[in-house]
Amino acid sequence: MAFTLRWGIIATGGISTKFAEDLLVNPATRNSDVAHKIAAVGSRSVASAQKFIDRLYSDPSPNQWGEDGWNAWALQNGVLDGAKACGSYSEVFADPNVDAVYIGTPHTVHHANAKAALLAGKHVLCEKPFTFDLEELEELIAIAKENKLFLMEAVWTRFQPIAYAVQDLLTSGRLGKVKRMTADFSMNYDPDIRPDSNRMIDPEQGGGSLLDQGPYPSVWAMLALHEHPSNTDEHPRVVASYQRIYERSGVDAASTWVVSWKDFADATLVTDMTASGYDDACVVITCEDADLAIAYPPWRPESFTIVPHSKYEPGSIREREVHKFPATTPGGGMYYEADEVARCIRDGKTESGRMPLKESIITQRWLDDVRKAGGTVLKNRKSTVGN
Ligand SMILES: NC(=O)c1ccc[n+]([C@@H]2O[C@H](COP(=O)([O-])OP(=O)(O)OC[C@H]3O[C@@H](n4cnc5c(N)ncnc54)[C@H](OP(=O)(O)O)[C@@H]3O)[C@@H](O)[C@H]2O)c1
Repeated sequence: MAFTLRWGIIATGGISTKFAEDLLVNPATRNSDVAHKIAAVGSRSVASAQKFIDRLYSDPSPNQWGEDGWNAWALQNGVLDGAKACGSYSEVFADPNVDAVYIGTPHTVHHANAKAALLAGKHVLCEKPFTFDLEELEELIAIAKENKLFLMEAVWTRFQPIAYAVQDLLTSGRLGKVKRMTADFSMNYDPDIRPDSNRMIDPEQGGGSLLDQGPYPSVWAMLALHEHPSNTDEHPRVVASYQRIYERSGVDAASTWVVSWKDFADATLVTDMTASGYDDACVVITCEDADLAIAYPPWRPESFTIVPHSKYEPGSIREREVHKFPATTPGGGMYYEADEVARCIRDGKTESGRMPLKESIITQRWLDDVRKAGGTVLKNRKSTVGN
């Protein structure tokens, strides 16, 4: 029988809902060798935790991907059997039926929640951005290592089939040398119509575009440049940055930063919560013989195009090629990262080779550097380490 990981889900907001729905998808639809069970759901109110579980049991409407009958397999196969509604997060951390905790709370409490889960002896998958700052992340890593527990940032994009295909193409050498790249996660979030309590607006919840959207341009830079075999720079640093302020609450409306990999390539990374992203390409990787353009959205793109250079400076590739990766399995694609967690825990690993902690440290440092150099209300916010 397949190894089954028993999850405790922390928070009942938007992303926890998507993650939980994906745990209900039949693993056979993606040929997975591991399975999942939801053992407990924790919320600041027991009524909200119960409502979350009730909806997973019985909601007859389509899920967010427009699929009917999305929970049928899970109900027949006991994925939700005995799922406990908890009126506090600590109740989930103390539950002996929980192996791993998924943290879907706002950024500013990731550290406190993940730390409490680890100290209670649970493995942790924590939403992006991992923590508010690097100091918080380093404390979590130390606790996980000391207690031999698994810890991973929930960068689900890394586990999508297209992410592997982009890396394979770049490392094959077919496009020639990699020269530089841009990656942009813009999304017109209409901040003006949102309440002050919205987590993108509220500084107390780590609001602004950088911390929420920044992990996506970052992941493509890490996959395309940092992990490229020609890169030898283990410590790529931010060499320039700018943040545009959203005056109403003082968080950033948009951020731009440049990262340099010494003797290899540079990336210009952009986030913006006030403008729509460019549909044809949210990532462009400029190579010697052609460009590689990844279509929007950056979190789970469904195609990339090999674009020949202009006739003025043609490379060896002359024909445009579109490579498509449509979502052919049910659900949203978050199960790939959940499967990775299950496999690592099954195999006694404390971190993922595909989403290693040293790479989370690099991108967390970029977010720190951009935030501290900018002029937002989060510029001087203190870490919660020690609390
Ligand atoms: N991987 C992705 O694609 C993705 C997408 C969206 C968001 N995220 C990340 O997931 C995290 C949560 O985002 P979300 O969109 O799910 O947010 P959300 O809808 O606002 O939900 C956040 C939940 O956190 C709990 N919470 C705990 N402390 C809170 C506080 N002080 N204020 C407000 N809520 C608090 C609440 O649940 P209870 O009331 O049940 O305790 C709330 O429902 C963020 O870090 C975000 O970056 C990731």
